[in-house]
Amino acid sequence: MRIITITAGAAVAVLLAGCSSRRPDSVNMSSVITYGLQCAGGGAGVAAGSVTAESVENLRLQSSTASVKEFSLVAEVEKRPGLPDAWTFNGIVPGPEIRVQQGDHVHVTLINHLPAATTIHWHGIDVPNAADGVAGVTQDAVKPGHSYTYDFLVPEPGTYWYHSHQDTSNQIPRGLFGPLVVEPKNAPYYDRDYTLVYHDAVPPARGFFPTIARILGAVDRRSVAVNGTPGDLRLSANAGELVRLRLINATAGETRADAAPLHIVALGAPYRVVALDGHDLNGPQLIGPEVLPLGAGQRYDIELRMPAAGVVRLVDVGLEETVTLGSGIVRIPDLSKLSVFDLTRYGVPRAQAPAPAGFDADYTVDLGSRPGFHFGKFGLVHTIDGKDFPGTPMILVRPGQLVKLHFTNRGRTEEFHTMHLHGHVFTVLARNGVPLSGSPVRLDTLLVAPKETWDVAFRADNPGLWMLHCHVLLHAATGMDMMVSYPGIVTPYSVGRVSGNVPE
Ligand code: C2O
Ligand code: CU
Repeated sequence: MRIITITAGAAVAVLLAGCSSRRPDSVNMSSVITYGLQCAGGGAGVAAGSVTAESVENLRLQSSTASVKEFSLVAEVEKRPGLPDAWTFNGIVPGPEIRVQQGDHVHVTLINHLPAATTIHWHGIDVPNAADGVAGVTQDAVKPGHSYTYDFLVPEPGTYWYHSHQDTSNQIPRGLFGPLVVEPKNAPYYDRDYTLVYHDAVPPARGFFPTIARILGAVDRRSVAVNGTPGDLRLSANAGELVRLRLINATAGETRADAAPLHIVALGAPYRVVALDGHDLNGPQLIGPEVLPLGAGQRYDIELRMPAAGVVRLVDVGLEETVTLGSGIVRIPDLSKLSVFDLTRYGVPRAQAPAPAGFDADYTVDLGSRPGFHFGKFGLVHTIDGKDFPGTPMILVRPGQLVKLHFTNRGRTEEFHTMHLHGHVFTVLARNGVPLSGSPVRLDTLLVAPKETWDVAFRADNPGLWMLHCHVLLHAATGMDMMVSYPGIVTPYSVGRVSGNVPE
């Protein structure tokens, strides 16, 4: 800890930069500076004087006795004949699966051979802040020819993923993402374990006309691939085997014009949803065929027993790509008649764990959109409480607090949003005011449909500067981001034109 002095003059300079309509020169996300930052008549909340400050630089893993697993990820360009170049980790899209055991100490070195700066974010893992990989907040984006090492523990088993968090809306669709699986300590009880990463098949066209066409709904969908395979991905499995499938939505979130989730259904055998965003559900019942709404950034782990017929097929309702387990013919029912999985009523409540109550802080996060300018570009601006990043309000939490977030989605454009919180897992409390009646549900990415409200709660137990943003990448890149910050945390990094750090 050290004492630093913030002067009102510096705060005002930051304030003005944050309110410019073009990309700001430099915005610093330190909580002491931006606390109270508001564009309209702002500045009043910015206090000059002495504060106790700690840099995000110091929020690293303390020495651990856990076994260390070393990985390196080389970000590089891959030429593809007749197609736009892909940007890959270790030459493949998705990047290599990082598979570790619960409790491991993970050490990953990012080596950048791209012509652009990049980072890696560990989506869903509650890393120490310095390992969060957000350009301009927890580190400078790693320049071409340079490297950076991430260090963190993985205490909770489950299905996670990693991706670039620099110029994300461009770098993820180009290929900079991969799966991260944390195996439980006890030996797995299933016979097969497959990770299925859903992602955009071809880097999408960018620019004014494609964007307008998408907003008008003229381009209704993009093609999706699974583990790099468009069309049908074939995996082996034999009758009677228990199969675990780890579904990850790594698309940019615009497979459908309204940013609706993927609609995945398994045909040929009933299944259980055993985990959401990596966290086990309690008492998951057999269902099926029921459509699983898999929002951008989310994960579903399902388990099924291969039927005597020896084949199961996963389809996305309305898209072309499929996954076939085993071989044979699967009868396709009328997909439009299938019911949709509802996480608020699935599994059984856990007697020992009542929903959190007695909140220390309570925030409303109002999701919306409007036509306007964001960083000098005209289009649909995505907003939180009517403001676009970095002008969005900040959620200031204190260590130990139980914090409730109330999400509303009243935007006139009727879009879906998948709200992702860095550094913390939250418990889902209610949808449209109705409490969950089944298993407790813990997520890091929440799907919020048009007109819905959701209540969630998290324990503020990981000091730092953390993003809370929509994982529909275009929404995040056009303003739908905010910071969750602990008091007195400062960052030496900044977002903007001068540093070249562009988290979204
Ligand atoms: Cu998966 Cu802020 O990201
Ligand atoms: Cu969104």
